[in-house]
Amino acid sequence: MKGNVLIIGSGGREHALALRISQSSSVGNVFCLPGNPGTENFSTNISLDNSDYNSIYSFCQSEKIDLVVIGPEQPLVEGLSDFLREKKINVFGPSSLAAQIEASKSFAKNIMKEANVPTAEYKEFYRNDYQSALEYLKKSNYPIVIKADGLAAGKGVTICEHFQKAKETVDDIFVSNVFGQSGDKVVIEEFLFGEEASLFAITDGKDFITLPPAQDHKRIGDGDTGKNTGGMGSYAPTPLLDTNSILEIEQKIIEPTLQMLNEKGYPFVGCLYAGLIITKDGPKVIEFNCRFGDPETQVVLPLLDGDFLELLYSASTGQLNKNAVKYNGGSAVCVVAASSGYPDSYQKGFEILGLDNVDPEIIIYHAGTVKKENKIFTNGGRVLGVTAVLKNNDILEAQKKAYDALSKICFDGIYYRTDIADRVRKYLNYKK
Ligand code: AMP
Ligand code: GLY
Repeated sequence: MKGNVLIIGSGGREHALALRISQSSSVGNVFCLPGNPGTENFSTNISLDNSDYNSIYSFCQSEKIDLVVIGPEQPLVEGLSDFLREKKINVFGPSSLAAQIEASKSFAKNIMKEANVPTAEYKEFYRNDYQSALEYLKKSNYPIVIKADGLAAGKGVTICEHFQKAKETVDDIFVSNVFGQSGDKVVIEEFLFGEEASLFAITDGKDFITLPPAQDHKRIGDGDTGKNTGGMGSYAPTPLLDTNSILEIEQKIIEPTLQMLNEKGYPFVGCLYAGLIITKDGPKVIEFNCRFGDPETQVVLPLLDGDFLELLYSASTGQLNKNAVKYNGGSAVCVVAASSGYPDSYQKGFEILGLDNVDPEIIIYHAGTVKKENKIFTNGGRVLGVTAVLKNNDILEAQKKAYDALSKICFDGIYYRTDIADRVRKYLNYKK
């Protein structure tokens, strides 16, 4: 079968999805909605109103689309997959109800509690429980973590070192209403100490496989300092998780979570992203996402041999082909080049030079870019994901290659972290 695919989204993650899908032996035509100047090089970008589900459906019919892959959480939470499935279109991505695992922290916590999945101890409070929340915080140990229940563009989590900060955070959410309805409820949870990793499970709702584990770098500054961002770089596979710990995570976290979602009547079809923290008591869940991670996807997918489209297609039809892809070794490092000022305000519209790297071990993923008269300009906070992919397992060599490639790219105000994948040194020494 030659499958025609439509990928929804425009970031670095969607560039990585589209690229890996277009390299699959079962692929037919690949379309991206809206895609970006990177995806244009090997697929067809289309411009339709993303919120006009009927037009998306008409497009699927006219182009005989066999699979729609939805990248970001927003359209999943808003029900695009449900709409298309009702029209008998195959979709890789969960229903709006199953996507609550990301869209509501309290939903996710309750699923984990019922399924006995290791996670931070927590309590939840509604807006009208403001006083009880403060009483609880007065008696708590610090640091403590306060999370707005709903989607908050990565800004809904505050780590509070003392009561004063916790009170300010609750005031911001409940009184100043900084997150709107997403702050109608908060989850207050225990602070967990440990190293973080991201693990993707591809599932048809019953069976699943996990992909090589990755590590994101969420903070803006070197040494994990400064504000949280969407992710400033990533590498895979991370030596933080060995085969045994992956097996443990599959058995204690992924399997019971999928089973509980099933029992509740919300089978999850798509990529369940487990954000993990490896504590002294073992791996625990910090958060679940209902989609692939960005920028982890950029390093995980190039490491997979086999037919990636077949993996996603088989998941979407409820018959997961667990052997469609395999990790046979290799390593990858992605460094995000951002606009200076990100994650706060930044300027756009600067020409990007040096994008013509032809080294087969380098992939330059586009994210916040735009093409005008055959030139590429910055158009967002995270602009590019410069990625080295090696056949060998030497992550530090991949790190060097990624930074070498990045040094040849320039635009006004380019900013990137200089320590992506440095943590590997610590894990490798640790293991010795
Ligand atoms: P999130 O927006 O849920 O990805 O959280 C952002 C970051 O906050 C995570 O990557 C962690 O570094 C941190 N974090 C969230 N929850 C906890 C927790 N319970 N303990 C320690 N750190 C946490
Ligand atoms: N890399 C973090 C995320 O995708 O949410």
